[in-house]
Amino acid sequence: MKRRDFVGNIAFGGFVGAAAVSTARCQEAVLPESASTKLPSGKLMITPLVLMAPREDGVTAVWGVSELCKGRLQWEDTNGNRATVAADDFGMVPQGASTIRINLSGLKPGNDYRVRCVTTNGSNTASQESPWKPFRTLNSAASETRFVVWNDTHVNNETIRKLDDVTPASDFLVWNGDTCNDWTNEELLIPTLLNPAERDITQNRPLLLVWGNHDVRGAWAFQLPHRVATPSGRPFYALRSGPVAVICLHTGEDKPDNHPSFAGRVAFDDLRAEQTQWLKKIITEPQFRDAPYRIVCCHIPLRWTNEKIPDYENGGYDYFSHRSRAAWHDSLVQWKTQVVISGHTHQYQWIPATNDFPYGQITGGGPRSSDATWMEVVANNESLTITTHMLSGSASQTVRFNKVV
Ligand SMILES: [Fe+2]
Repeated sequence: MKRRDFVGNIAFGGFVGAAAVSTARCQEAVLPESASTKLPSGKLMITPLVLMAPREDGVTAVWGVSELCKGRLQWEDTNGNRATVAADDFGMVPQGASTIRINLSGLKPGNDYRVRCVTTNGSNTASQESPWKPFRTLNSAASETRFVVWNDTHVNNETIRKLDDVTPASDFLVWNGDTCNDWTNEELLIPTLLNPAERDITQNRPLLLVWGNHDVRGAWAFQLPHRVATPSGRPFYALRSGPVAVICLHTGEDKPDNHPSFAGRVAFDDLRAEQTQWLKKIITEPQFRDAPYRIVCCHIPLRWTNEKIPDYENGGYDYFSHRSRAAWHDSLVQWKTQVVISGHTHQYQWIPATNDFPYGQITGGGPRSSDATWMEVVANNESLTITTHMLSGSASQTVRFNKVV
């Protein structure tokens, strides 16, 4: 499917003149476009309007700004219903000096919408509107879902541009970790995450970010959570899209927390333990417990072809996250996880399930165009298929699963 065919041709009612509706979290339009267009247009947006954390009832919009600004998010559906989100959870108009993040909720599952943002500077002397951007909410009742997976792009802009060109419109894009090469500089975060290779990678495929080990490296890594959004507000979450349940987990670093290279900045033993308890509960909730197909996405694989524990004091690092597996294995087996989708190793690999490890493991390629891959996951009443496409044009690899019985 061509990207423009996904939701790009949907007819919308038009913001001006349409009847406004309000939802639980969406206020009536308080800044109609006539008010914003009275102000001089300024270059306040420094990134596209990025759509993340797709859910059945909405999505979260994030964009970069050049100075302290206020933001509003206008939305409309194909029936002419429309409103503006102009308040945060604390009663303030959404604001930010480097990014603005607005949560849109109260929408209907599986429906087509479009949004745009209005950005106004602090002194109300300049304003800028983004173009309208279409998206579709997730739908757990859909008969089919299709999503795509990237991993380990590591700011390789040539690869990102090619991936963006060939990856089709989808229900969502999982960016499965290692977006960067360590956050050594605060200035790296916004372009890398919200405008990679100067592209809008969330056009017709809203983004789910999975944390990789490089995403937590460097003195400025602590800022990453403020520049992105996830469905739960945490780096671990679960979602249902059609017949597939996806659980996204944070495998942390590839060395122990006390490794000197981390300079005392990380605490992943605690986060893994928290995810262990969360996982035990989430797999008992009906939409996950009863899902026909069951996928885990995590950056560092939970299995590998050579499971030797590395010598961390002499440059060794984990090819598979044995700490995460020890913490989560029992729940993954109980849930009847079918496949774990990962990156990290920078090479495509498929490891089938065994008696000891009844979940398959698949890993995507690396940042160079010669090694890069993108995965296409399709699930319907017939099967679940994961096709790994080589960006180089080499033959694609497909693994297929039947419904969990
Ligand atoms: Fe990587």
